[in-house]
Amino acid sequence: MTFILETQSIFHDFKGLEVLFDINLGIQEGERHAVIGPNGAGKTTLFNLITGKYRPTRGAVFLDGKEITSRPIPWRARNGLARSFQITNLFPRLTVFQSLRTAVLSRRGIRLNPIVNVGRMKDVNEEVESLLERIGLEDQRDVPAGMLAYGQQRALEIGLTLALRPRVMLLDEPTAGMSTDETREVVELIRRVTEGMTLVIIEHDMEVVFDLAERITVLHYGRILASGPKESIREDPRVKEAYLGEEDFACTFKSTD
Ligand SMILES: Nc1ncnc2c1ncn2[C@@H]1O[C@H](COP(=O)(O)OP(=O)(O)O)[C@@H](O)[C@H]1O
Ligand SMILES: [Mg+2]
Repeated sequence: MTFILETQSIFHDFKGLEVLFDINLGIQEGERHAVIGPNGAGKTTLFNLITGKYRPTRGAVFLDGKEITSRPIPWRARNGLARSFQITNLFPRLTVFQSLRTAVLSRRGIRLNPIVNVGRMKDVNEEVESLLERIGLEDQRDVPAGMLAYGQQRALEIGLTLALRPRVMLLDEPTAGMSTDETREVVELIRRVTEGMTLVIIEHDMEVVFDLAERITVLHYGRILASGPKESIREDPRVKEAYLGEEDFACTFKSTD
């Protein structure tokens, strides 16, 4: 089995505090994969090792079979690993259109300057239009990012990630802090725009996880407790035991059994 994204026996510590142990994660091309586990399990750290923010203490990361463990973040981004980040906080005054155009231009390696070829700009604008439509923000095109409703900001962040045309999209708790309605909208958006794509999503809402992902990895105290198709995760006695008493998971069993 070859994986589009793979970690081999990753260990990580923060100045002696060991947080990940022997992580072997394989992501298949075209699957939507959720990483779940309690707070502090090491999920975000694992993302940071995959995207290049940290180097693992031991072990290796592979993208499309090539080792990328020591590649810097921009290299990984250019080669198809895209993580959403809260750009709406970084550039609150850019409008939705301007934000998306900046992302498209950066992927195409074009800097904003007065002598950019007009034909190319037309292409760029068409691409931005199609992104606007995909994320459902046509009506907000001229709204500054900082003025958007929370769910719309998330939509824009996802749009910015899509603008990079990633081979693997990584989302860390995209519904954190949202109301039930906003969560439902953002999950629908994620489902729609990631159709046929490879997605790795960290998510705490079990309903979202079982709804969206085909495969699930459970992290527990820095170790992989189980990884596989969601049906097998739901039935896994170790997972059930680890989550026993956890309301979220108990509800999931009830509502789907
Ligand atoms: N930059 C850091 N420096 C020191 N400890 C960290 C750092 N980032 C995370 N940790 C610790 O690593 C463990 C895993 O954290 P994290 O990956 O954020 O977990 P999760 O995303 O599953 O909630 C926690 O004990 C956390 O306190
Ligand atoms: Mg986290």
